[in-house]
Amino acid sequence: MPLTQPSADVVIVGGGVIGCAIAYYLAKDGARVAIVERDTVGAHASSAAAGMLGAQVETTHPGPFVSLCLESRARFPRLAEALYALTGIDIELNRAGLLRLAQNDEEQQALLARAEWQRALGEPAEWLDGFALREREPAVSDAVVGALAIPGDHQVNAAKLTRAFAEAAVRLGARIIEHCAVERFLRHGTRVVGVETEGETYRAEWTVLAAGAWSGVLGRRLGLRLPVGPVKGESLSVVLQAVPFRKTLFAHGCYLVPKQGGRVVIGATEARAGFDRRVTLAAVTQLAAAAKTLVPALAEATFERAWASVRPHSADGLPFLGTVAGHPGLVVATGHFRNGILLAPITGELIAQLIRTGQTPDLLAPFSPDRLLEAANGISAASQGGEAR
Ligand code: GLY
Repeated sequence: MPLTQPSADVVIVGGGVIGCAIAYYLAKDGARVAIVERDTVGAHASSAAAGMLGAQVETTHPGPFVSLCLESRARFPRLAEALYALTGIDIELNRAGLLRLAQNDEEQQALLARAEWQRALGEPAEWLDGFALREREPAVSDAVVGALAIPGDHQVNAAKLTRAFAEAAVRLGARIIEHCAVERFLRHGTRVVGVETEGETYRAEWTVLAAGAWSGVLGRRLGLRLPVGPVKGESLSVVLQAVPFRKTLFAHGCYLVPKQGGRVVIGATEARAGFDRRVTLAAVTQLAAAAKTLVPALAEATFERAWASVRPHSADGLPFLGTVAGHPGLVVATGHFRNGILLAPITGELIAQLIRTGQTPDLLAPFSPDRLLEAANGISAASQGGEAR
């Protein structure tokens, strides 16, 4: 018989960056929180991520999704300080900014259009022709015709951010139970009242499903058709004595993210391959070739390692954030796709607010999981603000 644990206010299923951020903000509010994680904290997409805070580079038209991204990005400077003060972990917030590179006229036109609406939102986005670009970043090759300079899209160390959220939450009283898979969700009538794992029962007022790419599979144990599934991404890293560029360089199909210690993260592929997390030679050679085309000096870099993980992709490409009609006690926070690191602070803060007040914050309303009922038949109204990749 499973043992009954002392009850928590909130049990969070999933110890990725989203689950850990929610735990941190809830614990800050004084809630008793437990994270139940099948593997270890940050074991999957949260540590595979390059850590870009791409509120402008990852969005192609204005709307609620951009607003959510910008709000979250704005929280990083204070968050970095708060997490450092609590845990001593430096999340390596790098404010050098980002260049969205164009390799042909069509890409240039699309970026010029994007710059217009982003500037109308008050966000700097300056077009640089090839000459101006290479004045700022001389290592960029002549194959690049120009770039949109996005000084606000910073970057962090994704694995350290996840660990810092987790450690901060623990310091504030949260519990993290690793190597512990959820077998079923507990119900009292229609109400979701916690989870059962092998040998343990965790009862709670609120249960948060934040299991990334696995959320769709776990949702089925609740009788939910949550359209979230895996999109594989493969990446590699190289090291040099000195990285020959300062800003993140982001092109179609390849980005180069300069990290501490002469390291460059080169990412990332996108493939629907189920939960396959093998690194393929095809992906590594494709990314390496693209990287050398953008910055020829990378040909001399030392290969360090390559890795793969699965991003949580929803049917309409937008996150699911909030309560679910017919399932009181349940909150869903998943489907962040390419933007889990960027969106972790706003997700954590607003899901904690929802749980504290019982009210859905305005910023979260367009991302209600209830649209999944529509999503089964197509794309919902919320996609008006999302990335059309
Ligand atoms: N955020 C970049 C990626 O998912 O590859």
